Amino acid sequence: MPLQLRRAELADVNQLTDVFFSGFRKDAVMARCFPEKPSVRQCWIDGLKRDLADPAVHLVAVVDTDLEGSPIIAYANWVAPRTATATAAAAATTDQGQQNPPMYPEDGDDLALAAFFFPHLKGHRERKMAGRTCWYLAALVCHEEHQGRGAGGILMRYGVGAADAMQADIYVEASPPDVPVYKKFGFRDIGRVVVLDGMFTELFMLREYNEGSS
Ligand SMILES: CC(C)(COP(=O)(O)OP(=O)(O)OC[C@H]1O[C@@H](n2cnc3c(N)ncnc32)[C@H](O)[C@@H]1OP(=O)(O)O)[C@@H](O)C(=O)NCCC(=O)NCCS
Repeated sequence: MPLQLRRAELADVNQLTDVFFSGFRKDAVMARCFPEKPSVRQCWIDGLKRDLADPAVHLVAVVDTDLEGSPIIAYANWVAPRTATATAAAAATTDQGQQNPPMYPEDGDDLALAAFFFPHLKGHRERKMAGRTCWYLAALVCHEEHQGRGAGGILMRYGVGAADAMQADIYVEASPPDVPVYKKFGFRDIGRVVVLDGMFTELFMLREYNEGSS
């Protein structure tokens, strides 16, 4: 089986960023808010480095061992439920800038869209996840040349398995083409936001733990 799952490491941040820009090239919101240019690339790399230093974040990658150098073709960012103690400990050891990292780059192509969209997602997410033991799927992306080969499924099964093992729910924000993938894994639509004059709908989806589902 040439597709293998492994934890991502600091040395992978450039490859992960290549996968991000490739996978989201056709996503109307992400392409406007995270256009591929050096400053935005650096912003994404900085975020990946923060994630790699965060014990709650499981940054997992799929590599293709049939290709030279076994490159990363897809990755996911699974955020485990944070206990109140862990949140307080993290707050005590990080400075204010690290506690409130930027949600989007300041030099994207549509700053008004980003300034509405990402805080709106965050607010909705915090309300829906409150009071639940809940994982958050913060990113799932496959290089466009490798989509449809099973890498996304491997990454989904990693997080679904981890959530089921602790009888936890999972929350995700889904762009339109990915909704069938999440439905297949037991997520349901619990809300939405419509932007770009009605041309783009982002769904808020929840997978509630169900003993019979795993
Ligand atoms: C979403 C994405 C990560 C999926 O990755 P992928 O490697 O192409 O996905 P896979 O081929 O492994 O398919 C994932 C699973 O969903 C299933 N699936 C795919 N399309 C489906 C559909 N239309 N209906 C039902 N199931 C579907 C597949 O059969 C597979 O399940 P399996 O592993 O049990 O066979 C990829 O399409 C992508 O990067 N999209 C752009 C970025 C993006 O929008 N990310 C999500 C942000 S919310």
